[in-house]
Amino acid sequence: MGKDVIIACDFSSAEKTFEFLDKFTGKKPFVKIGMELYYAEGPAIVKEIKARGHKIFLDLKLHDIPNTVKKSMAVLSNLGVDICNLHAGGTIRMMEAALEGLTRPDGSRPLLIAVTQLTSTDQESMENDLLIKAPIDEVVMHYAENAKKAGLDGVVCSPLEAGKVHDRCGNEFITVTPGVRFADGDIGDQKRVMTPEQAKLIGSDYIVVGRPITAAEDPVAAYERCVREFVD
Ligand code: C5P
Repeated sequence: MGKDVIIACDFSSAEKTFEFLDKFTGKKPFVKIGMELYYAEGPAIVKEIKARGHKIFLDLKLHDIPNTVKKSMAVLSNLGVDICNLHAGGTIRMMEAALEGLTRPDGSRPLLIAVTQLTSTDQESMENDLLIKAPIDEVVMHYAENAKKAGLDGVVCSPLEAGKVHDRCGNEFITVTPGVRFADGDIGDQKRVMTPEQAKLIGSDYIVVGRPITAAEDPVAAYERCVREFVD
């Protein structure tokens, strides 16, 4: 599994996104496109970024009945993205259907990873709002195991959980971890963070980095620093 830094392109328009990507002359970083940009610009933004030669993690977190997810995943797969995701809470059957939809006629498909419990959900809201009474760490690991049973490639998780996910699901099961900050950087609204170097030590396969790169004075230098600390 190739370790890589994925830049979260949390921009509101294609114009702002390309203004940012144009700074990377000669380099083609792996980028994450989330709901904001996708809903603003539609599939065209995915095709354009792909045509420029970037790998793409399309972070749309699907969660619906298996048939709808299967058909929607087929559409996303045709866009040529490299990683897609969904909510493991949609059940094993939904995850299996998603994999079927993603698989292209030639047998290839994007990687498929699951969101377990969102990091914005805590023990209290999970118990009171969702009526899930187990400890949240257990729920996260159980959902990761469900994703593995369904045949998925990995999960999105906190870098603090990456080691445990590998212990439970194996080292081949990939961990994609946001919540990364430089040791001397701003934490912002993230609560539990790790440096790229720590994320590497704990075994994250991909780190997703947004503002430490997108809001940096020199985004290219910040990206290169991430790569140096995490990959090299
Ligand atoms: O700017 P920052 O580095 O905090 O961006 C992190 C990215 O990862 C954002 O796109 C955010 O939505 C995403 N993310 C996260 N925590 C999760 C799942 C996704 O921060 N648990």
